[in-house]
Amino acid sequence: MIIAIDGPAASGKGTIARALARHFGLPHLDTGLLYRAVGREALVRGIAFDDGPALAELAAALDVSALDPEPLKAGPVGEAASRVAAINEVRQALMTLQRDFATQAGGAVLDGRDIGTVIAPEAQVKIFVTATPEARAQRRHAELVARGEEVTPQSVLDDIRKRDQRDSSRASAPLTKAADAVELDNTTLGPAESVARALEIVASRT
Ligand code: C5P
Repeated sequence: MIIAIDGPAASGKGTIARALARHFGLPHLDTGLLYRAVGREALVRGIAFDDGPALAELAAALDVSALDPEPLKAGPVGEAASRVAAINEVRQALMTLQRDFATQAGGAVLDGRDIGTVIAPEAQVKIFVTATPEARAQRRHAELVARGEEVTPQSVLDDIRKRDQRDSSRASAPLTKAADAVELDNTTLGPAESVARALEIVASRT
């Protein structure tokens, strides 16, 4: 069983994906980490966000099993990830890796922006997780403050809107709900309620 969870930044898709993976005993891949790893490496090495060949080289050299989420969750890395994610060569370089993960024996849960549309269009279960930009900004703000980052609620909301705009309008695999995905709007739901709703969706699809 392949479960594809897509949605915008800070929509709670990671929480849902992790819970479903645990529930069904499936491996889970947070595909945002791949783009974040490329974005962070580009920042560290001073590679321009429009240098397709150099970014694709970084992407091709990634070791999925060695991704450390901690430094990848910092605010500036999210922005860098969204910049490199708009580069077609980067997406191509990360595609095989994600497809191999999705099609392993027994199934997998993947979360990202284009899992149901591009990476695993054959997935039995597709969930498109959404919430208002304000609700998502509030969650991301709390997360960043807990990490010790000094950010204002307004700057987080601005960043979320900018990323939504870039992720939805790019030419290569833009963020969009697959025709056969079920939408889960969790603006007014807590994590446990969101997961319960996701489990109902899986049950209705399998
Ligand atoms: O989900 P997360 O916020 O960690 O993703 C960081 C960035 O990576 C997103 O803003 C998006 O531009 C990009 N991304 C993508 N396709 C995916 C996952 C993430 O373009 N499947």
